[in-house]
Amino acid sequence: MNPKWWKESVVYQIYPISFKDSNGDGIGDLRGITSKLDYLKDLGVDVIWLCPIYKSPNHDNGYDISDYCDIQQQFGTLEDFDRLLREVHSRGMKLMMDLVLNHTSDEHPWFVESRSSEDNPKRDYYIWRKGKNGGPPNNWESYFSGSVWEHDSTTDSYYLHLYAKQQPDLNWDNPAVVDELHNMIQWWLKKGVDGFRFDAIAHIVKAQGLPDAENPNHLPTVRAYQLFSNLDKVHTLLQNLHDKVLYFYDIMTVGETSGLGPHQALDYVGDTRRELNMVFQFEHMYLDAASPGSGKWEIKPWNLIELKKVMSEWQTVLHNQGWNANYLGNHDQPRPVSRFGNDLNFRVPSAKMLATFLLTLEGTPYIYQGEEIGMTNPSFDSIEDYRDVETLNFYHERRERGVPEEEIMKAIRKKSRDNARTPMQWDNTEHAGFTSKGQPWINVNSNYMEINVAAAQKDPDSIYNYYKALIALRKEHKVMVYGEYKLLLPLHTEIYAYTRTFEENKLLVILNFFDQQPVFEWPNDLNPEGAKLLISNYKTAAEEDILKLQLRPYEARVYLIS
Ligand code: GLC
Ligand code: CA
Repeated sequence: MNPKWWKESVVYQIYPISFKDSNGDGIGDLRGITSKLDYLKDLGVDVIWLCPIYKSPNHDNGYDISDYCDIQQQFGTLEDFDRLLREVHSRGMKLMMDLVLNHTSDEHPWFVESRSSEDNPKRDYYIWRKGKNGGPPNNWESYFSGSVWEHDSTTDSYYLHLYAKQQPDLNWDNPAVVDELHNMIQWWLKKGVDGFRFDAIAHIVKAQGLPDAENPNHLPTVRAYQLFSNLDKVHTLLQNLHDKVLYFYDIMTVGETSGLGPHQALDYVGDTRRELNMVFQFEHMYLDAASPGSGKWEIKPWNLIELKKVMSEWQTVLHNQGWNANYLGNHDQPRPVSRFGNDLNFRVPSAKMLATFLLTLEGTPYIYQGEEIGMTNPSFDSIEDYRDVETLNFYHERRERGVPEEEIMKAIRKKSRDNARTPMQWDNTEHAGFTSKGQPWINVNSNYMEINVAAAQKDPDSIYNYYKALIALRKEHKVMVYGEYKLLLPLHTEIYAYTRTFEENKLLVILNFFDQQPVFEWPNDLNPEGAKLLISNYKTAAEEDILKLQLRPYEARVYLIS
């Protein structure tokens, strides 16, 4: 089992711009985060993952970095950061940074120099090509709509950007770029940070010669995507980073790697690979995409049998070989309770059921801010209310193609990244207590009077207190961390059930994913006599028949069997 602190940790992800504003300008900041550390400690969080706080013109909320070694002015100063880090450590927690190594901002001094002339020493820090037949050098499409190529008139050339045009891709084939990045990572490690999430790391290498894709469609399986994802050289570069830099520190690392299955993931996280501790996989995030090639905006209902299949593969393939990073939501995804639960009639039980799922899988659980109080998608009326560059680009592209407004808005309400980016709901005062006087940079979800931290802390049956109890159980029972996963009832359409086994302990996890009331038949090979109910999102009657459990909507139960 190879015990490690980062396997036993619970991670909480903070999206700084939306977490807590300390100075009334409507923008979350570092001092705001520091003021809420006791809240996170109380919840039981071990590691905070801080989304980018570096200097940035903010076209993609900090994922466009213009100075890796400075703090974005609106978030605070390096002193504020040092204080945050000290305060995190003094509470016995750890801090993981989010590093964007695939690209920088177009305002980064490297890019300003690079674009200035063809013989500038920094020219090859980025990926420049001449146009072809009066158009871009190839037909690849950007994640954020349109070509990956932007024409630059200074040198009549194009630069490559997989994301927004303000995010030019770095050229990792250039050893000078690799050196610069290694040195920068050292700089943060010497400050004492405890780990990194490596953004978009699967894409740092592009296919030799940048050939045209056969089908320039979007995610996740079409050819263009394969030409810049998970290529062999990514592993060489990561091993190099590991051996030269990361190896010397007791840190945790997780890479964002879309477009791979668990076998391929072992190339990143396999115990003998010397690369990363974990990766964020995307297979479960694409279960509601209409077709593999259609991208995230064309939606179909997800299906429980497929969810079980995907999650079970990751659980079993990585067991004893690597380690999973489990998540149901983050700053790029809709709110889990709106997507996989039921935020209309069963918000509380379904959010608790999903929490039970997240915290009882093998792997490190990642909780995204607000998930612990069951925050929902905001369903804004108008495109004016949305801020995200991906969403706005998608909207304009579809409008230009003549797609009806309402059709586009329907997809946006379900899938926009802004679903997860509305301000954290702290209490029932104006702007949900996120900001004292300012207008928040994006509207607060209108349900904050009901859904907020203050209310949740007071209510013993709240989602928040349920998360807290689950986290405490995870610390108490090693089987929740290290137990081997085995799926039961693979073809049941409503119940997701599995066991976890570690030494002489076994967990039985029973999750009803819908509002129907199916019967769960106790497995023959598990002794019901010695079964102790560790946690459930419903009160249970003393005289119930455990051999034939009539489940209630979204009911979740975890039994410890010895
Ligand atoms: C990752 C981030 C996302 C960002 C993109 C470009 O997917 O999670 O928020 O827009 O990379 O940096
Ligand atoms: Ca602020």
